[in-house]
Amino acid sequence: MTRRSTFLAATALALLPVGAAAQSGELVLYCSVDETWCRAQSEAFQRETGINVLMTRRSSGETFAQIAAGQGQPRGDVWWGGTGDPHLQAAQEGLTEEYRSPMLDELQDWAVRQAETSGFRTVGIYAGALGFGYNADLVGDPSPACWADLLDERFRDDVQVANPNSSGTAYTMLATFVQLFGEDEAFEFMAELHQNISQYTQSGSAPIRAAATGETAVGIVFMHDAVAQAVQGAPIVTVAPCEGTGYEVGSMSIIAGGPNPENARIWYDWALSAAAQEIGADVNSFQVPSNVNAATPPEAPDLGDINLIDYDFALFGSSEERTRLLARWDAEIGALGR
Ligand code: F6P
Repeated sequence: MTRRSTFLAATALALLPVGAAAQSGELVLYCSVDETWCRAQSEAFQRETGINVLMTRRSSGETFAQIAAGQGQPRGDVWWGGTGDPHLQAAQEGLTEEYRSPMLDELQDWAVRQAETSGFRTVGIYAGALGFGYNADLVGDPSPACWADLLDERFRDDVQVANPNSSGTAYTMLATFVQLFGEDEAFEFMAELHQNISQYTQSGSAPIRAAATGETAVGIVFMHDAVAQAVQGAPIVTVAPCEGTGYEVGSMSIIAGGPNPENARIWYDWALSAAAQEIGADVNSFQVPSNVNAATPPEAPDLGDINLIDYDFALFGSSEERTRLLARWDAEIGALGR
């Protein structure tokens, strides 16, 4: 056993409620980070607690839709990861359970604010800034540095971003443009950008994987997802757009009425511990962890160096606003032809 896994075991057991049957039962986990991290996190928890994790990975918007569809007869226990906006919408719609973890004291202010905004039905587990990455073998000078540069004709059919209905990354882009440019201007911008989009993918990080293999020149993604490709040797350059950009508070929620509520809380407390939050960096996930004692991976884009907008999570995570903006995107952007 490594020093860290010994610590993890101790932490997990210390967090078990008195009288709880450790080493037993199941946990149905809906995971919205990268598949490799979903697997690493589930396996570590299973090893440390003996609780069998049944994990499925889906993008943030898809998971929200799945939980909404299962209201009244939920099959899942915990939704771990994915952008904060749909977690806030789930909280507002009563799809997730209020829980005040004893671990809240160890969290960064932005993570606690996310909990407060939701009436403690969700909590921040990591943060990351939106940006884009480009393949340096395919993109010459001048290097794109701003959102506006992506409108250039030289990127015709050479930019990818996800669909904001399925992907939290793409919804973050939509909400970011609205906050940066104003709503009508944001939709005009996205309509113009549409001419350069070859594909709206289902998952938020797919565009940068495509850029890494040279299938597309540019992928609009969270900056940490672009860094992950560069770290693995792809010729990807990560850009923090010059106009400023939005960010996510990646979140976690307990699904209301799920089949294993006690194990859900054991996962929740464990996932907020510093040691559990350090697993991501081992599998190339370079978000900023929410536990103040967790080491921020050196590869993580420094949020202090990026021109971040004051993202209004309460508004853009509200049921009314998210539903309205997605409907407008479907009507004005999704419906556009080639
Ligand atoms: O794990 C990578 C990541 O970018 C997270 O930071 C983010 O919360 C999630 O994926 C969003 O995925 P999607 O856009 O597919 O919902």
